[in-house]
Amino acid sequence: MRLSPLTIAAGALAVLPTSHAFGGFGHITIAYLASNFVAPETTAYFQGLLRNDTADYLAGVATWADSVRYSKYFRWTSNFHFIDAKDDPPRACNVDLERDCKADGCVVTALANYTSRLLDASLPAYEHNVAARFVVHFVGDVHQPLHDEDVARGGNGIPVRFHGVELNLHHVWDSSIAEKLVGGVARRQPYRHARLWADSLTAEIRAGRFAGTTSRAWLDGLDIDDPTATALLWAREGNAHVCTTVLPEGPQAIRGQELGTTSYYDAAAPVIELQVARAGYRLAAWLDLIVARIKANETRRASSSSMGDL
Ligand SMILES: *[C@@H]1O[C@H](CO)[C@@H](O)[C@H](O)[C@H]1NC(C)=O
Ligand SMILES: *[C@@H]1O[C@H](CO)[C@@H](O)[C@H](O)[C@H]1NC(C)=O
Ligand SMILES: *[C@@H]1O[C@H](CO)[C@@H](O)[C@H](O)[C@H]1NC(C)=O
Repeated sequence: MRLSPLTIAAGALAVLPTSHAFGGFGHITIAYLASNFVAPETTAYFQGLLRNDTADYLAGVATWADSVRYSKYFRWTSNFHFIDAKDDPPRACNVDLERDCKADGCVVTALANYTSRLLDASLPAYEHNVAARFVVHFVGDVHQPLHDEDVARGGNGIPVRFHGVELNLHHVWDSSIAEKLVGGVARRQPYRHARLWADSLTAEIRAGRFAGTTSRAWLDGLDIDDPTATALLWAREGNAHVCTTVLPEGPQAIRGQELGTTSYYDAAAPVIELQVARAGYRLAAWLDLIVARIKANETRRASSSSMGDL
């Protein structure tokens, strides 16, 4: 079944949502990055599931979850984009699933749920398609530090300035820092610039700053048998950046500050770059593990049915 919200997603980029959404540009970059690293059978599987045989098959669905979260049919998914860690930055950063996940869910349980649904062969293709869109999106969200923080609604309630423009801190971490990193051109042509950024991060992972043990270590603790523990690990890692880089002097000190032209940006930009790189690389590994499971089942089924033929 073809989902029409793809077109809505493209429109939603023009009015970058201000709250609780790692900017469209970040999500699209993470999706392109993942498509650069997945195994060929993973590409084939998700191109089939998402009915898009172009190189944009993941990028094209990366912002879908944001485009539907304010709609009547998907409003119930809006808490799935974050986990509100009730810690005390910069004194203490930590994520406690019991304490911080809302009753109807959070990004950690949502990642676990939609991963399990992709692995549940009893669900129809439409549900696998929706689950794939959510997994691609939420792996991005969990890597944005302010999606792993409760203070002032994840920084939405903290007014700041970025190159003189009045914004809130959450928006700066969702969008402004990444857009400045690539030269402030991303808004007009997000797909084109996301592709370029993803390719340059791919080169860093293959042979540059993130090569070898650095990026290999990003896969530590990745466990397809325990998606909740895996997502919680990612949330804790993202949340730790809140104490060190997002709010190094606490939520009060940053109110009204200029962040774009100051040393704040110099500290924040490498963290955004690292988190986007990690998210894309991990998403690729995660999708590979999912497809490996599905294929292993198919092989088992094929061999047992051929044995049944004997
Ligand atoms: C694949 O996705 C891209 C990005 O959303 C879109 O522009 C393109 O039309 C899609 N192609 C197909 C065959 O659906
Ligand atoms: C899992 O996903 C399904 C389908 O979207 C949804 O109905 C259900 O509430 C989700 N469960 C959790 C725990 O998020
Ligand atoms: C594997 O097969 C089992 C038993 O038929 C099924 O319950 C499960 O959903 C399948 N998993 C995948 C990933 O296909």
